Amino acid sequence: MKDLYGRSITYLRMSVTELCNLRCRYCMPEEGVEKKEHENMLTEEEMVCAVQAAASLGVSKLRITGGEPLVKKNIVSICGRCAQIPGIREVCITTNGLLLPQLAKPLREAGVSRVNMSLDTLDAGKFAYISRVGTLDRALAGLEAALDAGFEKIKLNAVLIGGFNDDEIPALAELTRRYPIDLRFIELMPMYDSGDFGPEAYIPGTAVLEKLPELEKAEQDGGVARLYRLPGAQGNIGLISPVSAHFCAECNRLRLTADGKLKPCLHSSDEYTVKGLDYEGMRAQFEAAILGKPRWHGELSATSRSQAGRNMNQIGG
Ligand code: GTP
Ligand code: 5AD
Ligand code: SF4
Repeated sequence: MKDLYGRSITYLRMSVTELCNLRCRYCMPEEGVEKKEHENMLTEEEMVCAVQAAASLGVSKLRITGGEPLVKKNIVSICGRCAQIPGIREVCITTNGLLLPQLAKPLREAGVSRVNMSLDTLDAGKFAYISRVGTLDRALAGLEAALDAGFEKIKLNAVLIGGFNDDEIPALAELTRRYPIDLRFIELMPMYDSGDFGPEAYIPGTAVLEKLPELEKAEQDGGVARLYRLPGAQGNIGLISPVSAHFCAECNRLRLTADGKLKPCLHSSDEYTVKGLDYEGMRAQFEAAILGKPRWHGELSATSRSQAGRNMNQIGG
């Protein structure tokens, strides 16, 4: 279905939980998030029903997000059932990777075709710092497990943080020579005001081009990243620049939060409730959300905060 600005909405990002086994400093507070009452969160049945409603309106790509989706006990079943829904051509997942050693194969067998995994640093000390509770070894074991499981595509996401990982741009980029994966640098979005990373931590995606003058333009894949490639590399380097060059005009997505709210735009507080509704009710809310999708996300810069009204872990990126 098209929105009022002619954009075809074909991509649903569904968050299955707000909980996470990490505490990344740009995403959530140290104490984690208050566990919400079970009855306020979408059930597996409701998630499947929502995806059916979305598919009936033309959504063909589903991305499962979190918090951390792999901490959800029934994640394999959710993915498997969604992959069977007529019209859903691909089910993808965005994860921090820590649980992939156990779950990569079952997810692949359940029909998940692609995996995006966060990796902000290759330095063990920095990884422990940024994630507060994780270890680099476990993340790298997750990457190996994903490579072994035979997904169609694996992408790594690194949030660019000035003074933290800007010195690692070449080292992270090198991963695309070593592995058949894409590595995308994401501009830090001013979502959560933890005080850890203020405006001074924002660096524009163009810093990557300055650090890596050998990058060549690559064929675009229809996603939000501008793609480049290192000579001789197996995968692409992508720049996701929501702050310096927003991509609202090509935005084809809708978000569904774990507590059952449809968000037509990541950076707007507008929400449409689907929790507790039947198929017809959900379908009507999807239609309303698509028609209510704003033209763009309004002012967003290192100093003007997102109007999302939620932290990233409560949206799913
Ligand atoms: P592909 O299916 O591989 O294209 O994945 P993706 O880039 O859509 O998904 P992923 O979950 O890996 O997201 C990567 C980053 O892009 C995250 O930081 C998201 O918050 C950001 N992102 C994705 N979609 C949007 C969007 O519509 N607006 C903004 N501002 N950021 C987005
Ligand atoms: N800015 C940019 N990216 C973010 N992510 C989480 N919080 C932010 C933020 N404030 C990223 C994660 C993950 C993806 C889903 O969103 O690193 O890769
Ligand atoms: Fe968890 Fe992802 Fe947020 Fe890190 S960025 S705390 S891995 S949800």
